[in-house]
Amino acid sequence: IRHLLSGADLDAATATQILDTAAEMATVAGREVKKLPALRGRTVVNLFYEDSTRTRISFEAAAKRLSADVINFSAKGSSVAKGESLKDTALTLQAMGADAVVVRHPASGAPHRLANWVDGSVVNAGDGTHEHPTQALLDAYTMRSRLGRVAGLHVAIVGDVLHSRVARSNVLLLSTLGAKVTLVGPPTLIPVDWAARAGAAAPSLSLGGPGEGGAAAAFAPGTDVSYDLDAVLPNVDVVMMLRVQRERMNDSYFPSAREYARRYGLDGPRLRRLPEHAIVMHPGPMNRGMEITPEAADSPRSTIVEQVANGVSVRMAVLYLLLGGINR
Ligand code: CP
Repeated sequence: IRHLLSGADLDAATATQILDTAAEMATVAGREVKKLPALRGRTVVNLFYEDSTRTRISFEAAAKRLSADVINFSAKGSSVAKGESLKDTALTLQAMGADAVVVRHPASGAPHRLANWVDGSVVNAGDGTHEHPTQALLDAYTMRSRLGRVAGLHVAIVGDVLHSRVARSNVLLLSTLGAKVTLVGPPTLIPVDWAARAGAAAPSLSLGGPGEGGAAAAFAPGTDVSYDLDAVLPNVDVVMMLRVQRERMNDSYFPSAREYARRYGLDGPRLRRLPEHAIVMHPGPMNRGMEITPEAADSPRSTIVEQVANGVSVRMAVLYLLLGGINR
């Protein structure tokens, strides 16, 4: 592959190659010399039009550990504020010799447009409500390292699925790798077409009607939808909580925070409904006290901090395979 734009770009063999390479990269972090010369002379541009902590810093750390030159571009404080377009910004960066552009953008599909304009590789670091493929890869890596495999796992993805690029990329990648996914949330926050494809009849709850909006994505056959978190928890290996993205919501269909936490928040009693071996994931940033309580987020079952560490190894693997490995 030349670009990584979507979870759908990855077949099982390529995804497994990335996870295996990430495991090799993880050993670098434990060494005295933490740098590899693999991307010496290459330039990686981090092009961020939307806020980020984990993704931006981990791509920067990943590129530096591979000895690439890194240019960090934030739309805030740049000529974007003067009205410069994404295309002109991209061509400017191209002229400075970018071999790879890692892009986060509020518009779904922006990385796909960018891929038509630049010669280098484009990596989607999160586009609107559409996709976040490297998050799905680091999540799969974390499942594999904690539970030994991805194939055959039952993963519940819980909460604001409608606005979640993490959910869309995970549904695609997890199904490619042979896991079963159940999407859980209030009817307002499950994409209406996905609920229909899964054959889930929305219950008449106080939480409102079906979820309209968000970005379309390929529906992975076999994906289930449930509105009952308590019924799903005893049957899963992984529960992945999603951030409630209030900034993307219209108040008219936003459930009250108290009602949301009562029905869909992961708290102590719900944690105890999980099987003994099950793990708790969250991509971050978290709304503590809303979709997850501190008791759940900080429990020994939680992999939230590990996910961040694994993100560096997985992003090293992605940059290495796009720029230095299989393609060049
Ligand atoms: N998980 C994630 O994408 O976090 P950031 O928004 O901090 O990058």
